[in-house]
Amino acid sequence: MGLNLDYINGQTPLDEDEKEGLKIPTITTRGELDEFEQLNIEKAVEWTLKNKFKIGKILTEKFIKDLHKRMFGEVWKWAGEFRNTNKNIGVDKFQIGIELRNLIDDCKYWIENNTFDADEFAVRFSHRVVKVHLFPNGNGRHSRLLGDILVNHGFNKPVFTWGGKDLVHKGEARIEYLKAIREADEGNYNKLIEFARK
Ligand SMILES: Nc1ncnc2c1ncn2[C@@H]1O[C@H](COP(=O)(O)OP(=O)(O)O)[C@@H](O)[C@H]1O
Ligand SMILES: [Mg+2]
Repeated sequence: MGLNLDYINGQTPLDEDEKEGLKIPTITTRGELDEFEQLNIEKAVEWTLKNKFKIGKILTEKFIKDLHKRMFGEVWKWAGEFRNTNKNIGVDKFQIGIELRNLIDDCKYWIENNTFDADEFAVRFSHRVVKVHLFPNGNGRHSRLLGDILVNHGFNKPVFTWGGKDLVHKGEARIEYLKAIREADEGNYNKLIEFARK
């Protein structure tokens, strides 16, 4: 028995070979998959609570990949590895490393020049990461936790609420979130910054 998942607006479908990366063969439904992923993510969150990361460490390819692996590594074989297929969201698969490098360089410039306050910095970073779409799946959840880590560990501010509601499933909150994300795609970050603290 394989996976039979339906995809909601703004979620990236998995390719057949990526589905094969499932480490828990008893998972057959979307609901089961969600639960296993959520348990894995909770362990990753615990890890972030037990540690203190410096901003220079957070803003590295290694940390960004490691975080994804911690969030999804018990469920997916490809966790923490850049995708090698193209998606309806994100840059070409061959541009992922370069785009991430550009983002990290931009972040260093923002720090040196005090370009943004903590919230705007973290939201812009999180959004740019999800816009590149580094991984086969889990990009939204990974980008939001990354934003939380940056604002909390890097700037000593509370983690974001990201609307305070479930964003993984269909619903008002997800619609509002995706609207804000699309505005951010156009360089308009106000809605997403506001949403992140709502
Ligand atoms: N137009 C867009 N521009 C940038 N990011 C987007 C866009 N549309 C959706 N996203 C992001 O992509 C995520 C979906 O990617 P996916 O890898 O399936 O993440 P997850 O599995 O955590 O939901 C959404 O939650 C959102 O954060
Ligand atoms: Mg997804």
